[in-house]
Order: sequence, then structure tokens, then C-alpha cells
Amino acid sequence: MSVSIKSAREIELMRAAGKILAKVHENLEKELKAGMSTLDIDRLGEEIIRSFGCIPSFKNYNGYPASVCVSVNDEVVHGIPTKKRHLQEGDIVSLDIGVIYKGYHSDAARTHGIGEISKEAALLIERTRQSFFEGIKYAKEGNHLHEISNAVGAYAESFGYGVVRDLVGHGIGTHLHEDPQIPNFTQKSRGVRLKAGMTLAVEPMINAGRFDVLWQEDNWTVVTQDHSLSAHYENTILVTTGEPEILTLTPSEIDNSL
Ligand code: MF3
Ligand code: CO
Repeated sequence: MSVSIKSAREIELMRAAGKILAKVHENLEKELKAGMSTLDIDRLGEEIIRSFGCIPSFKNYNGYPASVCVSVNDEVVHGIPTKKRHLQEGDIVSLDIGVIYKGYHSDAARTHGIGEISKEAALLIERTRQSFFEGIKYAKEGNHLHEISNAVGAYAESFGYGVVRDLVGHGIGTHLHEDPQIPNFTQKSRGVRLKAGMTLAVEPMINAGRFDVLWQEDNWTVVTQDHSLSAHYENTILVTTGEPEILTLTPSEIDNSL
């Protein structure tokens, strides 16, 4: 396993890719409403990505057919947008988006509620987000990767949630998926030693019920086996000798995370 260390020039490009992706999420979230199809979301998302001069990195990645992964309710990740599926009041929808800017990738996901959602759903979304922040407290030069995984998993499991095991976060840079893999649950081996200049996509996928997931017949859409709700929260981060820099937050998200 070799984890790339980005140069100062590369870090600038990763920052730019991240800032754009934060805006893409912000602009797309504003458009969400009951009645729209998941394909409408993908079309709008792709338009916004291209308006910033970026390429949607998921499109055609291993044959994935869209620019935005749109996963509703018990869909965990990699939902394929379709004109047949319409959002309804009370749904939760996870949007996972990757962009390429001047050859550098950023990757981020958010789960949103449509209209009024259940207390259970709102808590799942908030705690999934918080599990990311619990994990990245340990994303610092000199620590080992498992400290991030353990902290994410322990926080989510403290609520009785199922932490998805079959999908993981990843290094990111000139490729969408680079070493290392970043699980969201307790690890036996400590994993790589973190160094300043590593860029990582940390992405807890948390189920309200059990952790088990299934792949649907389209070979992409991952759903919870027990049909419980699932939430996803992901950012691309830069490891430093101090606090990590979160590259895919909007200015208002940065204020709220302090
Ligand atoms: N955030 C996801 C990941 O890191 C998105 C990949 S979906 C795909 O794997 F469509 F690009 F495959
Ligand atoms: Co990712």
C-alpha cells in the first residue's frame, strides 16, 4: 500500500476542487423538493458541476451511468437516478458527488430530509454527520488510520446503529479511489501512519437498523437488508500536523462545525 503525499501545488488544486464541490452540493440542495425525480437531481447536478468547469467523476466510473449517486431511505449508496422515482415528503435522500478540477478529485456526500421528516430520521442524519467529525479528530500526522475508523464506529454504535462494513472511505487525489481504504468500524490492525499532505475521503454510511447490506439487481444500488433507513456523510480532508483541513465544506458549514 502506498499513500501519496500531495505537494503544495497539488494541495492548492485539491482545495479548489473541494471548494467547488461544496458549492455544487449547496446549489443542488436548494433545488430539492417533493415530486422531483431522482433523474432531475442528477441532471441539475451535472449542469452545476459543468458550470464550474469541472467533470463529474462518477459518470462512467466502472460503468456507473450518472453524475450524482441518489440514494433514498433504505438505499445506502450508489442509487442510480431514474425518472421513475419521485421524492416524497418525509423521504431522506443521500447525494454523493465527485468532481474533477484540473485533474484533481474531490468527493463529498450529504443526506437531506424532504419536507418534514421523522425524529428518527433527523437524528440518524445528524449523528451520521457527527460520526465523521468524531473520526477526523484523529486525522493528524503521527496518528494511525484505525484511530479514525474506531472513533467513527464507536460513536455511531453508541446509538445502536449499524455501521456499514462492506463499503469504506479512501484516499483521493489524481484518482477517485487511492490508498488507503478507510473503514468506519473498529479495526484490529492499526493501519497506515498518517502524514501531512495525505488527502482522504472519510465517509460514514450508517444504518438505523443492522449493518447488513445487499446489492440490488442493477449491481449498483446498495440497500439495508432490514430496510431500515440509512444516512451518508462524506468530506475530502487534508491531513496536516495539526487540525485536518476539510476541503468540501461551504463557509456556512465551516461556521457550524466550529
Ligand atoms: N463516494 C463514492 C465512493 O467513494 C462514490 C463512488 S460512486 C461511483 O466510492 F459511481 F463512482 F462508483
Ligand atoms: Co467516496
